[in-house]
Amino acid sequence: MEEFKVERYMELLETGKKYAELMNKYQCAIMEVETKLKVLNAEFSLQYDRNPFESIKSRLKSPASIIKKMQRKGQLTDEASFARSIEENLYDVAGIRVICAFQEDIYRLAELLVQQDDIRLIRTKDYIRNPKENGYRSLHLILEVPVFLKSGKTPVKVEVQFRTIAMDFWASVDHRLRYKKDVKNEDEIVEKLRVCATTIAALDDEMQQIRTMIEKD
Ligand code: GTP
Ligand code: MG
Repeated sequence: MEEFKVERYMELLETGKKYAELMNKYQCAIMEVETKLKVLNAEFSLQYDRNPFESIKSRLKSPASIIKKMQRKGQLTDEASFARSIEENLYDVAGIRVICAFQEDIYRLAELLVQQDDIRLIRTKDYIRNPKENGYRSLHLILEVPVFLKSGKTPVKVEVQFRTIAMDFWASVDHRLRYKKDVKNEDEIVEKLRVCATTIAALDDEMQQIRTMIEKD
């Protein structure tokens, strides 16, 4: 009995270590992609005297969200291969959000990033050109970026979300609604949000036009 316990604790620590190593890999991938974006920003600032993005936020998916999503995908089956299974099934453990002032910069930045020869584009979801039913707009890319570890080069997946400041404002309000239980007037709020999303899209277009007009001179 005693012996079993020690072995079990050893196993737990080993599993924990594997998990920590995996999360470290994702954190390194975030650093790689963030650096690439910052390099593009610096070059742009020099050349055109403006920044294509206003801010970058990044996050690692929390253990609770990882487990919830793996469960939803029916992948909570084998403890021993859990870390590998996370890598195979989840594309958003490493997440980066890039907030731009103008829509045009979103596409320019995304293109410049994807063109880099060490980046592999796994998937694109363009919710700007094809907004979700609720009005959600953003450009999502799933990328694979090489991370160089002691053991060698390993490709790691990162989800990058590009949005305008206005889209980000909308998404943060929508997010609040999603995570609140038992909201009264939910239908009314959903409808109001949908209207706001359209207004915001029109605003983003106008602002883009104004900038284009200013820059033409
Ligand atoms: P997820 O399991 O949600 O990750 O689905 P998916 O892999 O099909 O990803 P998708 O590209 O549709 O959305 C991924 C992420 O985009 C979410 O985790 C959110 O951060 C964001 N997102 C997508 N839809 C919405 C939305 O309607 N509202 C808000 N606020 N965020 C959204
Ligand atoms: Mg997600």
